[in-house]
Amino acid sequence: MKIAPSILSANFANLLEGIRKIEKNADLLHIDVMDGHFVPNISIGPVVVKSLRKYTSLPFDVHLMIENPDLYIKDFVKAGANIVTVHQEACIHLHRTIQKIKSYDIKAGVALNPTTSLDTLKYILQDIDMVLIMTVNPGFGGQKFIDSMLKKIEELSSIRENLNLTFEIEVDGGINVHNVKQVVEAGCDIIVAGSAIFESTDPSQTIKELREAVKR
Ligand code: DX5
Ligand code: ZN
Repeated sequence: MKIAPSILSANFANLLEGIRKIEKNADLLHIDVMDGHFVPNISIGPVVVKSLRKYTSLPFDVHLMIENPDLYIKDFVKAGANIVTVHQEACIHLHRTIQKIKSYDIKAGVALNPTTSLDTLKYILQDIDMVLIMTVNPGFGGQKFIDSMLKKIEELSSIRENLNLTFEIEVDGGINVHNVKQVVEAGCDIIVAGSAIFESTDPSQTIKELREAVKR
């Protein structure tokens, strides 16, 4: 299991301090980009991502919760993104968008809101590196995990097995030490956690505890 702390729950007045707290134990840095249209919140853009790139070698896992992502893919690639994930719901021409991300030689992911069916990915699964299953309605950190999403993760995991594909399954929203084991057992490879990590007294220790909780 990989762990991708979400900096959405870090202190925006000192993001670097937040990164330093987690970088030894994290596998990726999850960066939530929100435009105030696709989701009812505004977060950060490519300028901030570019500034952070100079200070850490953690791979940047950029989650675009924005309309018209095609317009900004290049900016995020130039800013140092290693994975760019777009929402299926925001892409009218999803195949084109995925090809555009891959043309920069980085990984391409597709995210699904909780009520968006896995069927919407049927004709793109073979072309992508990651599927991000949202387990809260996107827009905010600190929300409650939607339990019915466990079945969705299981279903995606068996689709992957049946089709003999290798995309990774990332799960985002409401994950903590109490539910992480279930999420991983359902088939998740990459855990995103924001509030559970950054609102704890020792973020680095919390990452260890998340790993321990899966083994128990
Ligand atoms: C929600 C974001 C998540 C969020 C996770 O829209 O995509 O990455 O920051 O935060 P927690 O772990 O607090 O639910
Ligand atoms: Zn996210």
